[in-house]
This record gives sequence, C-alpha cells and structure tokens, in this order.
Amino acid sequence: MRAREIRVGRRLRYLEAEAPASVRARGTLLLVHGFPLNARMWEPQEPLAERGWRVLAPQLRGFDGGVDDPPVSSIDDYAGDLVDLLDALHVEDAVVGGLSMGGYVAFALWRLAPRYIRGLVLADTRPQADAPEVLEARRQMLGRLREFGPAAVADALLPALVGATTKAGRSDVPARLRELMVSSPPAATEGAIAAMMARPDSTPLLSAIHCPTLVVVGEEDTLTPPAVSLDLHARIAGAELAVIPGAGHMSNLEQPALFNQALAAFLEHRV
Ligand code: MLT
Repeated sequence: MRAREIRVGRRLRYLEAEAPASVRARGTLLLVHGFPLNARMWEPQEPLAERGWRVLAPQLRGFDGGVDDPPVSSIDDYAGDLVDLLDALHVEDAVVGGLSMGGYVAFALWRLAPRYIRGLVLADTRPQADAPEVLEARRQMLGRLREFGPAAVADALLPALVGATTKAGRSDVPARLRELMVSSPPAATEGAIAAMMARPDSTPLLSAIHCPTLVVVGEEDTLTPPAVSLDLHARIAGAELAVIPGAGHMSNLEQPALFNQALAAFLEHRV
C-alpha cells in the first residue's frame, strides 16, 4: 500500500491500494486501525484492491509520525478526520471497517455522519463504553507510558493481542505488532487512551444500523471474546458474522487469508 497525504488545512495521512484498471470498480473500503498501532496493520488486506476496491487506511491523528497533529479530545475527532479525508478525496461513501479501537471510530462515524457509510465491518470490537476495571487499567497504562515509554506499553499489551495459535507458530505477527506499537508517538497513544476512556456507549445505536454489516471476530480473541461479537451481531438487523479460526484479537494479521476471504464474500454478496 502506498503512503499518501492530502492537505485540508493540515495534513491527513493514509495508505492506499488502488484497484487495477482492468477490474470493475466496486467502491471504497476504508479501514480504521486499532490501538496503539497505525494504518500499516492493514497491509495484509491490500489484495482486496484486486477485486475492484479502492482500499484506504487512514493514519489516525498523531499516529505514524504525525507529531505536528493537534491532540484529539474524543473518538469523535477521529471520526471527523475520516469525514475530512473522504470529502478531500471526493469519496461519497465507503464500506467502513474498523478493528477494535477502529470499530469505536466506526460507531462514532455512524452516529455523526451515517451518510458516508455504505457498509460496516466491525472486527474484534465492542459497542459498550469502558467498564470501571477497564478505566482503571487504562489509567495504569498511562502511568506506564509516561514512566517507561511505548516499549513498556507494547510489552504489556502484546500477550493479549494475539491468540494461542499465533503464539505457538507465528512469531512474525507479535514482532510486527511490537514494531508498530513502539513506533507510535507517546502523545498519540495518550490521546487515544483518553479518547477511548471518554467514549460513549454505542449500544443504543445498534438497532438503527440498516446498512450491510459484517461482524468479525478471532475465535481465540480474549480482549473482545466471541461472545461479545455474537451479542453485537444479534443486535444489528441482518448482520453477518464471521468467526476466524486460529486468530486472536488481531484477526486480520493473524489469519489474513481467512479474514480476507470473509471480507471479500461480504463485499461481493452483501454490499
Ligand atoms: C485495540 O486493539 O484497538 C484495543 O484493544 C482497543 C482497546 O484498548 O479498547
């Protein structure tokens, strides 16, 4: 995927994979990254461009070296940046996919500007706001980040991000995740933690979601376990569910072929 940027007063950065001219154009697939990663986590989804999709993966504000970006005050700021990006690129609507924190941003976009959403892909995410014990864990993470830096946060998070199958046989995935996490500027990670802590409960939105929706979850996800996705799936009328075997929380990176197969089938038959 190619790194690009566009100026709308300030720089919006994103990765892009264009559909080949020989294939019928299907539309735009906007993939929103998780915490505390960056758009490069979507590189395994580049092959979807071959099926006619323009794949855009925005760098959420401050991530991937955006040191001059203004800080975020809420998840809605990230959603507003997605609107600015789509407007700047003259994209009328997109299938919006988000993994984990990316899903929180997708819910915010649905709440604020649903007309931009042609379809939704909600991967390894949850609609609920943070529970009290999660808020406490995030406060501790902020302390760890300030005292010891991004590597300490990465080391604390990594064991929960990938599933047992990945731990047993794919050391390249945790290594790549660590590389991405360590490269995240501390200010961006702090902003994302504060934004996630303040996010509202999106559960009341779910019954109003009427676009084609795919819920995806790694079978071995312990952060947003399959039961959370089963419940999410049950609350969105007509949604599809894909449970990815051999994957934990980072289902798109741990089992890219199975993830892409589920996404491609959804894009082909439902959108
Ligand atoms: C993520 O992968 O984006 C995180 O698990 C989100 C979170 O900490 O809630």
